[in-house]
Amino acid sequence: MKVSTGVRIVFMGPPGAGKGTQAALLARSTGVPAISTGDLFRSHVSRRTPLGLQAQELMDAGEYVPDTVTNEMVRERLGLPDAHDGFLLDGYPRTVAQVTELDAIVDSLGHQVDAVVCLDAGVEHLLQRLLLRAEASGRTDDTEDVIRHRLTVYTQQTEPLLAIYHQRGILHRVDGLGSVCDVAGQVMAALRGAVN
Ligand code: AP5
Ligand code: MG
Repeated sequence: MKVSTGVRIVFMGPPGAGKGTQAALLARSTGVPAISTGDLFRSHVSRRTPLGLQAQELMDAGEYVPDTVTNEMVRERLGLPDAHDGFLLDGYPRTVAQVTELDAIVDSLGHQVDAVVCLDAGVEHLLQRLLLRAEASGRTDDTEDVIRHRLTVYTQQTEPLLAIYHQRGILHRVDGLGSVCDVAGQVMAALRGAVN
């Protein structure tokens, strides 16, 4: 099913909640790109770019990359032609400064953020999912200590942003604990009323 083209949606939620999984599924049905800041950073790390060298240590420790670096990378990415008719952001914004920057970017493009989907799940479920992924993914931040730290950083720095989007009336909370398919259905149901 199609939501529509021209949608600008943000996926939020703690590490392991399914942001990347659900954004990729929705990208397929809407035709707009899913853009993961984590994936962008990992691409820089694997290519050993200056940005990657700067980000690697922070990512491995489960800390956020500085706003100035992240914002510049996102501004550049959202300026590419494939994002012209919409995008699904996975893992951005994560700080108040990033919310402000995203507002400025979409405003300069003549648009607005249509909806924010927050995937909710409890800590122990998230930990189990990510430890399972660690066996296959090779992600260097998928160790128990670092996962727990990422969860703390999320709670302290990113969870408070939900109030901003709630106040704007565009926040949709979805239970991230069902099967991938169930969660996708709930995301679609939440967005059906939110975007044309
Ligand atoms: P990022 O890559 O975004 O990592 P994260 O937020 O920790 O989230 P994950 O990718 O681990 O989880 P997810 O919610 O995407 O879930 P997924 O679909 O993969 O960021 C990594 C790092 O980059 C950050 O720590 C930071 O250093 C830096 N960074 C990124 N953005 C930044 C920003 N804006 N500012 C500053 N720094 C930034 O699913 C997880 C697992 O669960 C998978 O194995 C999946 O198959 C499985 N799964 C998914 N859904 C289900 C389901 N419903 N049931 C069962 N299993 C499921
Ligand atoms: Mg992800």
